[in-house]
Amino acid sequence: MEIFITEDYGQMSRKAAEIIAAQINSNSSSVIGFATGSTPVGTYKELIRMNSEGSLDFSGVTTFNLDEYFPIKGDDPQSYRQFMYENLFSHINVNKNNVNLLNGEAEDWEKEAAEYEEKIKRAGGIDLQILGIGNNGHIAFNEPAESFSRWTSLIKLTQDTINANARFFGKEEDVPKKALSMGIGSIMAAKKIIMLVSGKSKADAFSKAFYGDITPQVPASVLQFHQNVTLVADKEANF
Ligand code: F6R
Repeated sequence: MEIFITEDYGQMSRKAAEIIAAQINSNSSSVIGFATGSTPVGTYKELIRMNSEGSLDFSGVTTFNLDEYFPIKGDDPQSYRQFMYENLFSHINVNKNNVNLLNGEAEDWEKEAAEYEEKIKRAGGIDLQILGIGNNGHIAFNEPAESFSRWTSLIKLTQDTINANARFFGKEEDVPKKALSMGIGSIMAAKKIIMLVSGKSKADAFSKAFYGDITPQVPASVLQFHQNVTLVADKEANF
């Protein structure tokens, strides 16, 4: 595991963007797994800057996102689909046919989940997966549980996560109570993983995940078993 501790959020974002750019520059048809949330927004701004300056080309890249609320309409401003277009996809030269997002309006979530896994396989697997971490140690929407989930499935969000995400919805009652999420198995199958961690509020989860026991009660702790993880954390997140 490679660990970079940066001075602040800005430096974390630049470092993360450099690592993602290096992946795409070494293989222009890379398959990149993207995350939503506050943490990667600065990284996405850097990627947009590199793309607009001509030093990074997304035209051959395929993307998969980790998760989506369920149910939620694709044009709901709080959907992760909208988030990704607003914060990244609308501003870079990615081929929109190569953008893969879970459908929060799917009639049959099991079919949606199975097809998503199949698409990842057909694309050759994820070359680089970007992750954030929840205050409770979740990755994607894999919440603390009795066992590690395997593949993409429908997840019941914990009250912790609902509270943390209420900031985007205005009030807690409006936060969807479920989400479609790639599973721990899908994430662990990525060839490389980069995790971004920022701020004091993540210090506890960060320390439990990487210096504590490997347990489904701290889903991110499973990353200790992955062969190629890079952590980019700012000083505040580093307990
Ligand atoms: C989002 C996701 C979540 C977030 C995590 C941290 O796609 O998978 O696991 O990475 O909840 O969110 P922020 O960055 O908002 O603190």
